[in-house]
Amino acid sequence: MDKLIINGQRELHGDVCISGAKNAALPILIASLLSEEELKLKNVPSLFDIKTTELLLSALGVEISKTSSTIILKAKKINNFNAPYDLVKTMRASILVLGPLLSRFGKARVSLPGGCAIGSRPVGIHIEGLEAMGAQIKIENGDIVASTQGLSENRLIGTEIEMNPVTVTGTENLLMAACLAKGKTTLKNSAKEPEVIDLGNCLIKMGAIIKGLGTDIIEVEGVEELNGAEHSIIFDRIEAGTYMVAAAMTSGELNCIGVESDKMSSILYKLKDAGVEIIDSGDVIKIKSNGKLNPVNIETGAYPNFPTDMQAQFMALNTIANGNSKVKENIFENRFMHVQELIRMGADIKVNQNTAIISGGKILEGANVMATDLRASASLVLAALSAKGETIIDRIYHLDRGYENLEKKFNQIGANIKRVN
Ligand code: EPU
Repeated sequence: MDKLIINGQRELHGDVCISGAKNAALPILIASLLSEEELKLKNVPSLFDIKTTELLLSALGVEISKTSSTIILKAKKINNFNAPYDLVKTMRASILVLGPLLSRFGKARVSLPGGCAIGSRPVGIHIEGLEAMGAQIKIENGDIVASTQGLSENRLIGTEIEMNPVTVTGTENLLMAACLAKGKTTLKNSAKEPEVIDLGNCLIKMGAIIKGLGTDIIEVEGVEELNGAEHSIIFDRIEAGTYMVAAAMTSGELNCIGVESDKMSSILYKLKDAGVEIIDSGDVIKIKSNGKLNPVNIETGAYPNFPTDMQAQFMALNTIANGNSKVKENIFENRFMHVQELIRMGADIKVNQNTAIISGGKILEGANVMATDLRASASLVLAALSAKGETIIDRIYHLDRGYENLEKKFNQIGANIKRVN
């Protein structure tokens, strides 16, 4: 298993190109199932989760060809409607094949995702939404078995669905299902994340009729079939935010290239609060830090509120900021796995239910630490970059799921990170 060895306390300077967003690319790759024509996707990041999605789609019969960050998918001959446990357990987003398979082919069998390191993460809203559209769904040997048998033309029926709580992949699954349903579907309390909007924009290019993207209410007028299209995946706001926090924590000066500030306002707002200078010039954001950081209170929420996927990274920043802070996690019940590892590096953090109290002003020290999930791992990398001495991070396969060329990008801006086996 690979490990990262990081020698800290180096200022980060230079340019970093931000990759396409993992959480937009995953549903959009899967949207290829909705048409028998070619879907050409550009700016797809090279990540472990993307490979898993390609494996899953190939297993279903999708033809896939690839040149660097462009992927062409053609779902003409789908001969398998089953997403097996082996793939779903490595990537929960596999649940996203349920809506498209059911709406285009009238059947799907998808292993029910279990809990994961950050919480129980149920998928009841995905299932109830599809049932409201007329699907018959049962759980059989740990699998969700869904069918449209008995419905006219075997097609799902558009209806009104209210999702509570707001769910990103739940909205995406039902949005994809609604595109080929009969009649109009109204999705209330929809997720407004830029990644959901990017999926919606790609579906519109494929011929879907969708209104209200980025608002609470999405309306979809179902069509009989979708066509092929070409689409470029939006930038990864969480990757960008992670590099920005790295610059903040290392007295660095970094140009993040290929970003859009309006899609990451809550992150930029907190960086400003932390005392970091931000210069926004269109698709480049410059981050300048003099190393004197103010602590920032964070409370996570659905977009446009502060993203849970940046909570761990800001927790790392708060450990060295000058004063005390509070971090409240409102989305996932167990997303504080990084706390114990940060404490091993010298942080002072106390957790009470979903709130962490951080006594800042610490100089972190290198240690052996263990990555537990994707964003927890990112926070350990940030802590290690600012720490005195050497940090060894074990189980970094989590990072490979979501950060493209992480050590290469960091080393190009002055970090000292080695990957060892
Ligand atoms: N929820 C339910 N029932 C459901 C679905 C969700 O109660 O049927 C709850 C969840 O337990 C959670 C809340 O709703 O408390 C929100 O979860 P959501 O469904 O929005 O999360 P997700 O769709 O499974 C996506 C991202 C996550 C990101 C969350 C929140 C993808 C592939 N994953 O997950 O990304 O943290 O939204 O923004 O888009 C990551 O990239 O590291 C990551 C975990």
